[in-house]
Amino acid sequence: MDIWRITGERKLEGSCTVQGSKNATLPVMAASLICPAGTELFNVPQLSDVDSALRILRHLGCRAYQQGNSVYIDSTAISDSTIPEHLMEEMRSSVFFLGALTARCGEARLSLPGGCRLGKRPIDLHLDALRRMGAEIEENGGEILCRARQLTGCEITLGFPSVGATENIMLAACAAKGSTVIRGAAREPEISALSDYLISLGAEITGAGTSSITIEGFKPRKQTHFRIISDRIAASTLMCCTAAAGGRVELRDVVPEHFSTVTDVLAGCGCDMIRTGDTLTVSAGGRLSSPGYFSTEPYPGFPTDAQPVLMAALLKASGTTYIREKIFENRFRQAAELRKLGADIETDGNLACIKGRERLYGSRLEATDLRGGASMVVAALGAEGETVICDSGHISRGYEELDKVLCSLGADIKATPHNTSAAADG
Ligand code: EPZ
Repeated sequence: MDIWRITGERKLEGSCTVQGSKNATLPVMAASLICPAGTELFNVPQLSDVDSALRILRHLGCRAYQQGNSVYIDSTAISDSTIPEHLMEEMRSSVFFLGALTARCGEARLSLPGGCRLGKRPIDLHLDALRRMGAEIEENGGEILCRARQLTGCEITLGFPSVGATENIMLAACAAKGSTVIRGAAREPEISALSDYLISLGAEITGAGTSSITIEGFKPRKQTHFRIISDRIAASTLMCCTAAAGGRVELRDVVPEHFSTVTDVLAGCGCDMIRTGDTLTVSAGGRLSSPGYFSTEPYPGFPTDAQPVLMAALLKASGTTYIREKIFENRFRQAAELRKLGADIETDGNLACIKGRERLYGSRLEATDLRGGASMVVAALGAEGETVICDSGHISRGYEELDKVLCSLGADIKATPHNTSAAADG
């Protein structure tokens, strides 16, 4: 159990570099399997989810290790196409190995990724698409066996722009005969990042970042170097920390377009934003005012991953905020913990109502999941006295040394790490 002791009401001042994106890194790591050569990735955050992906790659026979913010993977020799349950369970993103292994070996045997803490998270769209491409899939309890002597390109229309399904199809399509067209594709920046990586291996892909992506099957052969994009959710979290604590923080190495919906809401609440190239400076002073209403949507809409941290930043805003969560069925789990700080939050299905309170008071909280845990850090920074957050490894799955980053900006946080891992939820 990691224990965070946060003494709130300290203004944040200073400058920090935002980490590389977790959700861009994990599919790219799986994609490195497609090419029997070496891949060097830069700007990779040091996270427990990245460790889990490295363990899977090593289990499959790759040489794979992380040194600082660089990851090296050599997948020339693969000795296995089976991923045991204990490795699949470590993180949700292990599902990307389904498309990557099928592309590389013509076969993947793995179990369903574990621990659905945000509500139901089926992978029916992933499996339906692979079947349409000619794969034979057997589902036996929690185990999946996917076989395809030759995948065939085809047109796939997604009923919902699932990020993971779009990425898995892109991976499988690399080994397919002919072209694959994904209609209704997810448009998140992480999709464009995966496309850029695959292009660096020699793939021909057009349309990534739009709802129609075309991938031509190809024979990847190049050793490659690739830089991971900046993490838009880590940037959004740091903005919300500043909004809750007050102060002025410069975020370096960001792509402001990737999280402009979050910036816009915070600007409407009274935060000042100044952009200079890839730097964004956020200032907050005095009480925020409620934005009234916002809802989560697939990109380019407001990201579900930033919903819990923005909720936390608005607990003390004047007025009432309504939040509609449209992506996951159970993403208000943080609300019950935030109430212990004195927050006035009511939830009804996918709608949350927050009545801004003038003060919050430190308490003992338990992190519910990755972004829920981060929301408690945000709220604690604006609360009077000490908040203790007990976290069974959720926050370190997605944030690189968040405690140290915040302390460098003037926060009072004492975090005691312990080596336990959280059930997968990312
Ligand atoms: C990715 O998850 C992210 N994870 C999530 O980030 C993020 O919250 C989510 O996209 C939405 O933006 C990674 O990139 C590793 P989806 P993913 O498939 O791919 C339903 C974080 O905090 N659905 O777009 O799992 C599903 O149930 C994490 O960093 C199906 O019904 O998300 C959900 O309601 C958490 N069938 C919705 O679509 C399917 O086959 C969105 O899921 C697939 C999805």
